[in-house]
Amino acid sequence: MKAVVHAGKTGLEGLTYREFEEIEPKAGEVRVKLKTAGLNHRDLFSLVRHQPNDPPLILGSDGAGIVDAVGDGVEGIKVGDEVIINPSLGWKENSDAPPPGFEILGLPFHGTFAEKVVVPAENAVKKPAYLTWEEAGVLSLAALTAYRALFTRGKIKAGMNVLIPGIGGGVATLLMQFAKAVGATVYVTSRSKDKCEKALELGADKAFDSNGDWNEALEGVKMDLIIDCVGPATFNQSLAQLRQGGTIVTFGSSTGDEVQINLRSFFYGQFNFYGSTMGSGEEYIEMLQFIEKHQIRPVIDQMYPLEQFDQAFDRLEKAEQLGKLGFLIG
Ligand SMILES: NC(=O)c1ccc[n+]([C@@H]2O[C@H](COP(=O)([O-])OP(=O)(O)OC[C@H]3O[C@@H](n4cnc5c(N)ncnc54)[C@H](OP(=O)(O)O)[C@@H]3O)[C@@H](O)[C@H]2O)c1
Repeated sequence: MKAVVHAGKTGLEGLTYREFEEIEPKAGEVRVKLKTAGLNHRDLFSLVRHQPNDPPLILGSDGAGIVDAVGDGVEGIKVGDEVIINPSLGWKENSDAPPPGFEILGLPFHGTFAEKVVVPAENAVKKPAYLTWEEAGVLSLAALTAYRALFTRGKIKAGMNVLIPGIGGGVATLLMQFAKAVGATVYVTSRSKDKCEKALELGADKAFDSNGDWNEALEGVKMDLIIDCVGPATFNQSLAQLRQGGTIVTFGSSTGDEVQINLRSFFYGQFNFYGSTMGSGEEYIEMLQFIEKHQIRPVIDQMYPLEQFDQAFDRLEKAEQLGKLGFLIG
């Protein structure tokens, strides 16, 4: 089968589109013939985390397609079923944090940038019928992460003021759509004027320049909940907009892992600061029910044929997209 494989070199230089041996599903696994796959910021990080001496690896966490082989002992799913892949491996039930052994599809295990992928049967879930193959293929990682960050960790409620910096991001657009569906007032930032305008069209209540004056833009309105996955480039600006007793959640650090915060302002502010990552299998099902109820569709920036993987990675690396980038496969 054809696949986008990372081997031999760090970074984008190590990626090639080539023939790769097809994998048979073991007991408890299924193989999915992919129609579409989705790109995430994680795939950029994986280009660096996957070392030149490691065995060749097919990247990619998101995908949707049709089951084409089933391992021993698999029940409730059969060849021909239309499925969407939950990339959160080894985390079935809701819990405070993932259990030991939790991994994300695409590193260390072969992922979805290929004609076929093998996953545990419980990670192949019935595709919501209202989503197109493109929408289903780019949804999972970002939507699951957004769901846990907003609901489980952020405890979002109708009427809250919610701030989402860096709205161009794949997770950020879903955060905005979810928060609007709940009835929150949603403020977003971007470094791009164009993306601010598009975010307003997509339902944001206010959009302003990430590099501008946030106090001026927000005119004294303070936030109940802030979801900041940009990291040091925005984190302290975000914190400064939190109301006393408000909550800030992070699950990403696109611009670096370290921030300096003023502890005195933090404890006087009675702030809550939560970390989050991905979500459980149960949260994945809750998320699918939530998006179906509200008829939410991920915003797709652009889909590419798999062989044009370099163009997709380049667009992601330059943060030119608004929403999700993905691949058309079968
Ligand atoms: N822990 C987890 O389970 C988990 C899951 C999903 C994602 N993540 C992490 O969350 C982050 C977002 O993921 P994603 O896939 O949504 O990323 P993405 O699509 O690449 O989006 C990143 C966005 O961050 C903003 N940004 C980047 N650099 C910036 C800077 N210097 N100043 C201001 N804004 C900046 C940009 O927004 P504008 O273009 O609008 O300015 C950009 O579009 C990544 O770090 C990713 O690794 C973690």
